[in-house]
This record gives sequence, structure tokens and C-alpha cells, in this order.
Amino acid sequence: MNKIGIIGAMELEVETLKEKMKINNIVKKASMDFHEGSLNDVEVVIVRSGIGKVNAGICVQILADLFHVTHIINTGVAGSLNPSIDIGDIVISTDAMYHDVDATVFGYQPGEIPQLGQREFIAEPSLIALAKVACEDVNPDIHAFSGRVVSGDQFISDKAVKERLVNVFEGFCAEMEGAAIAQASTLNHIPFVIIRAISDKADESAEMDYPSFERKAAADCAKLVAHMIQKI
Ligand code: ADE
Repeated sequence: MNKIGIIGAMELEVETLKEKMKINNIVKKASMDFHEGSLNDVEVVIVRSGIGKVNAGICVQILADLFHVTHIINTGVAGSLNPSIDIGDIVISTDAMYHDVDATVFGYQPGEIPQLGQREFIAEPSLIALAKVACEDVNPDIHAFSGRVVSGDQFISDKAVKERLVNVFEGFCAEMEGAAIAQASTLNHIPFVIIRAISDKADESAEMDYPSFERKAAADCAKLVAHMIQKI
């Protein structure tokens, strides 16, 4: 029986899902509230992880150990790294990678954690396919792209930093949790996908755009997730 762990870093990324779900139990752990119950008749655990890689990694480990989730979906917002991907569009992860890990002095690739054996964390193809279909079903006016999500403990709002994420990491969007969720899911052998709606362009305009667009972007993304879980 499937049990889907749904993670959003911020309250506004999970609030519409929590409103829609039937909550059976709330478990507090590591200062996070894990909402157990069902959403559209699918067993789920919905949680706000908090922002950043450490919160995200802890959250996945708890979903694995305490709740034995079978799949993990990360929903939320991100900054676009590609001129074709506009505010309001959606990026579905093919894989995820850190942009703030650097052991290149020892011959590792940018973004590669030493001795881990992999730099890219590959999302589950069947979840990617379901997310694409769900986007066409529920958000037909929104463009969905699939590509690499790059993550780090930085809000990207500088053109030069953004260009590095494009040139070095070939990211489609930047955010602050996806790669940590991807790594922790991979280490626990849990299939995952990251789905992010674009709230800003990850350059100097982000400071203005992000507060204006984050709410709608987060809600569009959550709507897609609520729909796709019925098909898993
Ligand atoms: N989340 C949304 N926009 C972002 C950005 N520009 N950088 C990092 N995380 C984000």
C-alpha cells in the first residue's frame, strides 16, 4: 500500500494540501509537524520541513524511519535559471544537484560530495511522467518543463551567481531543499520527485517578484501534487 510523503519547505507550500486532507494524526518530531491521513483517498504524510538542506534531509529521514513512506514528493517554489521558463511555469525534476558543494581541489566535480559516489540524484521516471500528465489535467495553461533542480543554502538573486548555476550545473531552477531531499531519498531507496513552480527569475528582480508570486506559484504546485498522487 502506497504512503506518500509530501514535503514543502514553507507553510504556504503545504497549507492548501493540509486544508484538503483528512488528518488522522499529527506527530511532532525535530520541530516539524507530520500530518498523517489521506488526501484524495491516498494515504499521505504532509509536512513543512523548514527552509534549507539540513531541515530537508532530517525531514526525509523521519518520513523514512517513522512513517515508512513509499514515495516522496517535494512541492514548492523556485527561481528560474532558464529564459524560456517564466514566472508561473512549473519545473519537474529529472535530477537534483547541489550548487554549493565544492571539493574540486581534490578532483571532485563541482557539486559532488566527496566519497558519496554520485553527484546527480535521479528522480523516479514514473513520478515525473505522472506529474507531467497531472499538470496538463489541472493546470492546462501552465507550461511544465522537466530538468535539473539545483539546490543550496542561498536565495539566488544575483545575475552572476545565476549564470554560474546555468553554466556549471545546467540547472533549470534553483531552490534550497530539493537536492537534500533527493539525496536522503536516494540513500533510503525511496523514489522521489521535486515539483517547483517558478516565483522569480533568480536575479536582481527576485527581491520584487518573489513576494508577489510565491503564493500563487505554491498553490498551483500543490494542486498538481494533490491530483497526481491519485495515479501513483
Ligand atoms: N526559491 C524561490 N526562489 C528562489 C531563489 N531565487 N533562490 C533560492 N530559492 C528560491
